[in-house]
Amino acid sequence: MPADAKPAMAEGEGPPSAMGAFTVAIDGPAGAGKGTVAHSLAERYGFAHLDTGLLYRAVGKLAMDTGRGVIDEGAAELIARDLRAEHLGIDGLRSALAARAASRVAKFPGVRKALIAYQRSFARRPGGAVLDGRDIGTVICPEAEVKLYLVATPEARAERRYRELEEAGADTSLGRVLAELRARDAQDAARTAAPMKQAADAHLLDTTEMDIDAAAAAAAAIVDDALNRAAS
Ligand code: CDP
Repeated sequence: MPADAKPAMAEGEGPPSAMGAFTVAIDGPAGAGKGTVAHSLAERYGFAHLDTGLLYRAVGKLAMDTGRGVIDEGAAELIARDLRAEHLGIDGLRSALAARAASRVAKFPGVRKALIAYQRSFARRPGGAVLDGRDIGTVICPEAEVKLYLVATPEARAERRYRELEEAGADTSLGRVLAELRARDAQDAARTAAPMKQAADAHLLDTTEMDIDAAAAAAAAIVDDALNRAAS
């Protein structure tokens, strides 16, 4: 994906002004609340938001549609290199199938490499940016001003994801969602290329017992602190 591709997920254009780069990196497993917290921080501070999972979901979905891309690194890499911002809006990216395909292509180093420049340039755009994913604080933006690593028990995460999928009309069960989530966590954590892991300087937030507002408030307190330090 070209580094200067127009961001599809920019939520705020950010303050037009004086603020330079300020990156909030949010990582963690599926269903820990990354997307919700990222969205809430982007709104609160007027930062742009990139859901980096969508990049991998789009590559996975497009690769799946070609019939062999999820098992063929070369084919998946070509798709990643040709990815455009408009691909982040294609149908079906939120499905469990697309998540599985994403996790399969995400282990290919060539795919990850093709997506780095776009994510880095998004992260350091003026006006502030929030990115959520698996390797934002470790690989994409190790210099991020704030790093959060969100976790929750597999049962709590599966419950949340099951509710989302059910609301979207998917035909699934809690047991199946839990099994898929565990399989994807294992694959994401075990891969050699940019495995999912907490950066040494990331704040750990366990959202198991938190509702959306509580998780967003806990994250905002950490960002406030970093902004105050940056200003002084
Ligand atoms: O929303 P959820 O947390 O279920 O998944 P996602 O963030 O949309 O990511 C889907 C898959 O893409 C993950 O399981 C990872 O395999 C991969 N991914 C990644 O490798 N690196 C990222 N920065 C983001 C996602």
